[in-house]
Amino acid sequence: MDHRQGSIDPDAMHDALAALLSGERDWLANLANAAALIGRTLPGINWAGFYLLRGGELVLGPFWGAPACVRIAKGRGVCGAAAERRSTVVVPDVHAFPGHIACDPASRSEIVVPLLSCGRLLGVLDLDAPTIGRFADPERALLERLATIITTASDWPSWIGESAG
Ligand code: SME
Repeated sequence: MDHRQGSIDPDAMHDALAALLSGERDWLANLANAAALIGRTLPGINWAGFYLLRGGELVLGPFWGAPACVRIAKGRGVCGAAAERRSTVVVPDVHAFPGHIACDPASRSEIVVPLLSCGRLLGVLDLDAPTIGRFADPERALLERLATIITTASDWPSWIGESAG
């Protein structure tokens, strides 16, 4: 068994999130429930939540965990890097990532997955863990699948996100 995943079955977590969000198109309600489900289901993490792209910067959205920094410019920190690259960023040791934004000094590793819908970047899904090396390829694969559920399950207001270019 992979020590990072604990007893988590990725397919079961995928199906649980899909079931939780099915029948509801409200983006805010769905982000809130997704953060709570991820935070309570994935072992060994201390923060799970969303930053949404609003007016060209990332603004804190629904989350599970301690209060966090509210605004992050694109290109800043791990979240801003994932938004700028439009691809997942895995950080095994946050102290080794130049520009990492320390919202919670307890966080030691991090993964940020962009929320993309038909070329439109809506924001990012961010997870922190209090141990080094908590996130790797299995978590990347799972969280990218979860991000797809989240983006397709909801209707997004026009003031969230921006298209490429
Ligand atoms: N560490 C992030 C900031 C957000 S918190 O982890 C919740 C970053 O460097 O972008």
